[in-house]
Amino acid sequence: METVLSGIRSTGNLHLGNYFGAVRNFVKMQHEYNCYFFIADLHSLTTHPKPENLHDNIRKVLSEYIACGIDPEVATIYIQSDVPEISQLYLLLNMNAYIGELERTTTFKEKIRKQPENVNAGLLTYPVLMCADIIIHNANKVPVGKDQEQNLEMARKFAKRFNHIYNVDYFTLPEPFNFGSDLVKVPGLDGTGKMGKSEGNGIYLIDEPSVIRKKVMRAVTDAGPEQPNSTKPEPVQNLFYLLELMSEPDTVAHFEQAYNDCSIRYGDLKKQLAEDIIQFTTPYRERILEIYNDSEYLSKVVKNGANRARESASKTLREVREIIGYKSF
Ligand code: ADP
Ligand code: TRP
Repeated sequence: METVLSGIRSTGNLHLGNYFGAVRNFVKMQHEYNCYFFIADLHSLTTHPKPENLHDNIRKVLSEYIACGIDPEVATIYIQSDVPEISQLYLLLNMNAYIGELERTTTFKEKIRKQPENVNAGLLTYPVLMCADIIIHNANKVPVGKDQEQNLEMARKFAKRFNHIYNVDYFTLPEPFNFGSDLVKVPGLDGTGKMGKSEGNGIYLIDEPSVIRKKVMRAVTDAGPEQPNSTKPEPVQNLFYLLELMSEPDTVAHFEQAYNDCSIRYGDLKKQLAEDIIQFTTPYRERILEIYNDSEYLSKVVKNGANRARESASKTLREVREIIGYKSF
């Protein structure tokens, strides 16, 4: 069976964009592939999180992914820093990664622009650690967003280079992976563009109903259509996009009709959309809180995940050491 692997950032909560764009697909993938999902808590050190936040961030993200349907009995879900073999492979791979190519990476250049006060070596070697994450399980399919394409390209390069230097055909070259063809881009409700954490326009699974109502009621619209059957401007189109995602076809048809005959009242549409989002997110919110508060369960999941991940990782590391030329005395 083919192996799928993806790293999950341990910062921030899941919003509807993350859910429909990524997590929902992970949940489907776990039944068709040998899946590894891990929380990239070593990568998160590159931005210097506070010790008092680190653990809680991991716990939140873990609870959210499980609540969304990633089944720890099916997929291997673990925390990166629980698998020391990854750090060891990272060190070995660093010897064959060149400063020039790392400095040219777009994500590095972006980061040094964003945090000029903290240009650490971990940022520079971020793609090397990402490569270690992937090839330690010999994963061949990596579901990542567009912003990670170059990092994945680097991972391929390092894996290929290792094979070349040691004249082996050991590592599989990882490829970007889209599960299914239904790539969605969930828009924000602030007029233009996508929903995103850094865009500050997220509707989160963990949001209370009152928060969701407030966010949806604030959505940008216009004065309303003046002519029957006119095309919708982007902010209105975005509202309808969300409505299609969250509401019953009858509801969508009702508001489409109202838009087309110019009788639409955006207030009504927003109220309906807010309630439909709440209906969708409430079971997730409840489940997230339940899991988050269940220390015993989480501890079991994390231990089990680490054991499974280490089994596969230690085998790779052993073989890599042999290929490099280490021998036991
Ligand atoms: P954010 O920083 O906004 O939470 P990330 O860039 O960390 O999002 O993305 C995490 C995953 O969620 C990626 O796979 C990305 O493609 C997906 N994703 C994020 N925002 C959206 C969106 N608005 N629509 C669809 N997918 C999204
Ligand atoms: N860099 C990825 C991100 O920012 C997270 C990540 C770390 C990852 N290691 C990975 C993704 C390995 C895929 C494979 O989203």
